[in-house]
Amino acid sequence: MADPLALGIVLGSGLGPLADRVVVRDTISFADAGLPSSSVQGHAGRFLIGSLGSREVIVMQGRIHLYEGHGAKAVTAGIRWMHDRGVRHVILTNAAGTLNESHAPGTWMMLADHLNLTGTSPLEGGPHFIDMTRVYDEAAAGEFQAVASRLGITLHQGVYAGLRGPQYETPAEIRMLRTLGADAVGMSTVLEAIQARALGMKVTAFSCLTNWAAGMSPELLDHSDVLATGKAAADEMLRLLEEWCGS
Ligand code: 6GU
Repeated sequence: MADPLALGIVLGSGLGPLADRVVVRDTISFADAGLPSSSVQGHAGRFLIGSLGSREVIVMQGRIHLYEGHGAKAVTAGIRWMHDRGVRHVILTNAAGTLNESHAPGTWMMLADHLNLTGTSPLEGGPHFIDMTRVYDEAAAGEFQAVASRLGITLHQGVYAGLRGPQYETPAEIRMLRTLGADAVGMSTVLEAIQARALGMKVTAFSCLTNWAAGMSPELLDHSDVLATGKAAADEMLRLLEEWCGS
């Protein structure tokens, strides 16, 4: 089912356990790959090279964020590094807040589209004017949807709004994002997707909906809850990816 080209998988906050099922042949630290190191809790900052089921994979464990003070080029260096090593389809995962009442925390959402609200782009300086009509591969999305229903895994589809952070949003900002058509909100993924498309790679992205966005519930937001919910949901994503990769 999966295409034979090398697969890259970027793991978001709390999703590190996904890497446990990868048969690892080689590990390369961000530093050794010439990337800035990532300092956020829950991010190891290394590439795992190996296989998942019958697929050759490069897993990027941890990522670089704008809110750490890095620019759009640094944030997307891992995508270019994986492309240089033959990756032609990237799977981006992230932890996100949910703005859609029918997408409860603890479930997954596949990105159908995004709002890049970071105010920046990895393509400053070129290549310019890349088409963004179909960033997220529709054929792969159909395959993942079919695998999810076979496994009984809830997989929503929706629009992800990517913001700079590092603070979470205010309730007023969440109302604004809902008006703009966002279903989920987070601080990553959009720049990586733009970079990957500019390199002609296929892109698939999944948000682990870890919590209601601000004002959607009486609860306040807490990064440790985000990590805990991500850990619990990571198993579902692992089953989905393994099944899609084929054994
Ligand atoms: Cl509610 N907002 C943002 N920006 N990132 C998040 C989140 C919310 N929940 C998890 N990650």
